[in-house]
Amino acid sequence: MLRLGRPDVKPTLRERDWWRDAVIYQVYPRSFADSDGDGTGDLPGVTARLPYLADLGVDGLWLSPFYRSPLADAGYDVADYRDVDPRFGTLADVDTLIARADDLGLAVLVDLVPNHSSDQHPWFQAAVAAGPGSPERARYLFRDGRGATGELPPNNWRSGFGGPGWTRITEPDGRPGQWYLHLFDVHQPDFDWTCPDVRAEFESVLRFWLDRGVAGFRVDVAHGLIKAPGLPDLTRTPEELATLPTHASPFWDQDGVHEVYAAWRRLLESYGPPDRVLCAEAWVSPPERMARYLRPEEMHQGFAFDFLGCRWDATQLRQVIDAELHTMGAVGAPSTWVLSNHDVVRHASRLGTADPGPVTGGIRAGDPQPDRALGLRRARAATLLMLALPGAAYLYQGEELGLPEHTRLPDEVREDPVWVRSEHAHAGRDGCRVPIPWSAQAPGFGFSPTGATWLPQPPEFAEYAADAQDGVPGSTVELYRAALRLRREHRLGRGRLAWVSAMSSEVLAFDTCGVRVMVNLSSETAALPDGWSVICQSGPLESADAVPVDTAVWLAPARTCG
Ligand code: GLC
Ligand code: MG
Repeated sequence: MLRLGRPDVKPTLRERDWWRDAVIYQVYPRSFADSDGDGTGDLPGVTARLPYLADLGVDGLWLSPFYRSPLADAGYDVADYRDVDPRFGTLADVDTLIARADDLGLAVLVDLVPNHSSDQHPWFQAAVAAGPGSPERARYLFRDGRGATGELPPNNWRSGFGGPGWTRITEPDGRPGQWYLHLFDVHQPDFDWTCPDVRAEFESVLRFWLDRGVAGFRVDVAHGLIKAPGLPDLTRTPEELATLPTHASPFWDQDGVHEVYAAWRRLLESYGPPDRVLCAEAWVSPPERMARYLRPEEMHQGFAFDFLGCRWDATQLRQVIDAELHTMGAVGAPSTWVLSNHDVVRHASRLGTADPGPVTGGIRAGDPQPDRALGLRRARAATLLMLALPGAAYLYQGEELGLPEHTRLPDEVREDPVWVRSEHAHAGRDGCRVPIPWSAQAPGFGFSPTGATWLPQPPEFAEYAADAQDGVPGSTVELYRAALRLRREHRLGRGRLAWVSAMSSEVLAFDTCGVRVMVNLSSETAALPDGWSVICQSGPLESADAVPVDTAVWLAPARTCG
């Protein structure tokens, strides 16, 4: 039984709509903690570290995929939605993890990957074997090719990882045959969501995990399930697409996705209260289109990727925050803030680059290297900003350590299909997926009992190891602990933000729940207002009355003695 909602759990988890201000920690199981020494993180490793997460002060965790998978896209290529890959553990290990999390008052969300399966999924294997026109093929997007002998792909869509979006199969009789669509890797065939089998299957998968006690789902590529009827060619150039709403692409953000989520919402409602939640991974613009996913009868949360992709610029940040709060608020949804995940350059490194936009392609040894000190200073300030905003927030494993991206990974160890499919134009996402350093002195920094790590760690990870920061005043992990405690005490996630005019447009200042937040993005020290005292600071203050550059503070009304 889920303890969410019971009187003995944390205040944030007691309410039916606990998710509105929850802080969820993303665990990337492969790289979090390895229990059996094979160098690959696993579920028992996660379970063993749950007390660390409870102590950090988060409300729950989201587990990136641990399902049976060939790991062609790190587990986002699922071969069995109801089983655990042996490298990550067993179903019994999931049950133990959920039970232990429950004891600690942590909600567990799992990743649902409905846009595509692995090409090793029995349905895809059956589809290839069954031949054109079969009901098995109707579950995926198989089409005849163009050209005299079908030698050309059915349309001009490209894979998001690079290369064509279609691959031609060999038919059971040995002849070159139909093509199948894959918006991502060639090993990730897209489902056809107009097929009733697909809908029924995913409703069954939702029930499978809800019955095991999960509190919700992060929905992978939530904006991709439905493709424009007839699969028309993409007629826009990349330059045009950059300025148009996402649904100008015939495969993104098509209106038909919404009825899928409305059906799922009804299914989830039958398990509450407290609410079981759906969180959309939808890279959609403008915000009005994102808000459609968060209407009361659809999903609960959707990542605010505009915030993640924002430059270190006060005006832009304020615009993004306002647009987000206003647009999601208009449909009664909270904003769901995020700064890092397993797909983008870690914010401690991103904010130390010359142009910290939404860096998704990775950084290689030959590229300009981020300024680590600058990046960390800004990352800590950005996190204090995020954790003060009304709404929910997602953290990515390691960010509480201030962990930087591995920007000098040898190319030969890269596993992200982006590296190969982009023909080495993009390094890919391995640099943010490097195993976590738990212990500065241990081999593999304590990730695994043998010291083995599936990707090499850079030597500087020693500085960021959890045990090197534990209890150390001013360390990043202690900053996260303090901020999460204060956020809960002041219920900042349920606040209303009121901007305060600061002396400079490059200083963000707002009041929420009796707390004043200041973030100094200017190039000069900013004076603290009279009558307020600092309750949390992202970095050292040079004097009692000023906020240094790239620093954030939370202030409370000063108490007068007497
Ligand atoms: C999502 C995941 C990403 C994966 C892709 C394809 O964007 O976050 O890691 O590669 O979907 O499943
Ligand atoms: Mg292992």
